[in-house]
Parts: sequence; C-alpha cells; structure tokens
Amino acid sequence: MKKFGVLGFPLKHSLSPLMHTAALQELRIEAVYDKYEIAAKDLNCFMKRVKTGEFAGLSVTVPYKEEVLPYCDELSEQAEAIGAVNTLYVKEGKVIGENTDWYGFIEALKEVEPDLNGLKFLILGAGGVARACVYALNKEGIVPVVYNRTKEKAIELSNKFNCIVVESLKDKFDVIVNCTSVGLHAEDPLLVSEDIIKAAKIVYDLVYLETPLVREARACGVKIVDSKRMLLLQGVKQFELFTGENPNFEVMWESIKN
Ligand code: ATR
Repeated sequence: MKKFGVLGFPLKHSLSPLMHTAALQELRIEAVYDKYEIAAKDLNCFMKRVKTGEFAGLSVTVPYKEEVLPYCDELSEQAEAIGAVNTLYVKEGKVIGENTDWYGFIEALKEVEPDLNGLKFLILGAGGVARACVYALNKEGIVPVVYNRTKEKAIELSNKFNCIVVESLKDKFDVIVNCTSVGLHAEDPLLVSEDIIKAAKIVYDLVYLETPLVREARACGVKIVDSKRMLLLQGVKQFELFTGENPNFEVMWESIKN
C-alpha cells in the first residue's frame, strides 16, 4: 500500500491527514496518509527513509521546510526560488522538492478578490512564509511593501524578490497579510495600528486561527481571507503531485472547514 504523510514538529493540530485521507478515500485510492512527528535529531534518519522511496509523497511543514532542501534530488523552479519545500514526492526514483504554498496563498486570495490589479499590499514578516507570498505576488506583477521586526531580514528578502522595505508603518494599505507567527496566542499584540486595519479592504492572516488581527478586522467590517482556504488549495495541488489525480475539493474542504 502506498504511504503518504506529513512531516513536521509538532503535528498535534495538523489538518493535513484529514484533508488528504478524505480525498484518497473518495477516489478509492489504496493508500495511507499518516503523521510523522519527527524531532530535529531524528530528521536525518527519517530523510534516509524518504530517499529509499518508502513514501510516495510527503507534506512538509514547520520547522522543516528549509531543512529538507539538501535531501532533494531535484527542486522545482518555485521551490528553488522560494528556498522552501512543502511537498516531497517521488518521480522515477528521484525525490522531488516542490512548493505549493505560494499557489494556495494566491488562489485563496483570488477567491475573495479576483482582481488584484492596483491594490497596495503590506506583508508583515520576512521568513519562509513571507518569501512564498512575495514570490506569488511578484508573479501577479505586484510589488508589496514588507515590514519586519528585524529589518535586515526584510532587506535580504528584497535582495531576492521585488518588494519595498519599510522601517515603520505610516501608510494605509488595501491588503494586509500577516506572515509572522504573531497571533498564535490570544494575548499576542496587533502588529499594525487600528487605523491601518480600518483603512484596509482585506486582511489575510496566515495563522490558521481567529487571531487578534482577524478579530479586529472583522469588527471593522474588513473582508477576511480564510487561511484554511490556503491550506486546502496548497493541499489540492499537493494531492495532484502525489497521486496524479484531481481530488474532490468539496470533500477535502468538508473535512477541515470547522
Ligand atoms: P516562517 O517560515 O513560518 O515564516 P520564520 O522564518 O521563523 O518562520 O519567520 C517568522 C517571522 O515572524 C519573522 O518575520 C519574524 O520576525 P523576525 O525576523 O524579526 O524574527 C516574525 N516574528 C516572530 N515573532 C515575532 C514577534 N513577536 N513580533 C514580530 N515579528 C515576529
């Protein structure tokens, strides 16, 4: 039986097994999709198993999206550009590293706002997630503003992608995207002022929770992109790479939406 799974640590809250299992069952594909919660010290050993072809495909999540790069025989153009892999699959005996986060990010945004033309974007953060988002926006011809606590990291990002680094937030933006981990905890601060939130058309928080930023935006009547849609859409692309088949979106969505 084919083996798929998600690699990360911790994985307690991962929704990927639900989503992929639902799609596998609906297509009657004989395969399992399990959680591989691997401690950092055991990653090398686990990746050796991957190299032997034990798994037909793996989703890769925090904190290993960059760590798995050296184990890939090939990287897709996107994974190479973003410098992060969220999908591993085996093709002709080779381990291929792919990134589908950028696709999920932009497609979920387009579900809420199909016409991105002329919108001013603010990206909060400059880590791996921010790189995937800036990459996706650049593909659409958009040059976002990037603000990060550590300015040097934002400058690094701007050396690779097309974006404008700011040291403080004074301007207003149409779309605010949170690519930091701030918001994971209920007591986390808002990274932008209420005035900036109120002036926005859309808030998109990549933390898969009702964060203080999302709560505030909702209260101000600002449109929200549900980041679970990003999770779904990156997963749909992943499933296609894993199995070569088109999964049923609705079945996948039903399994994770609540
Ligand atoms: P990921 O791959 O999920 O993007 P990362 O590369 O560790 O993870 O990046 C985390 C991002 O969240 C960074 O932009 C980080 O800012 P720094 O570069 O200054 O570290 C941001 N971040 C994390 N905690 C933060 C906090 N308390 N306040 C502001 N930004 C924070």
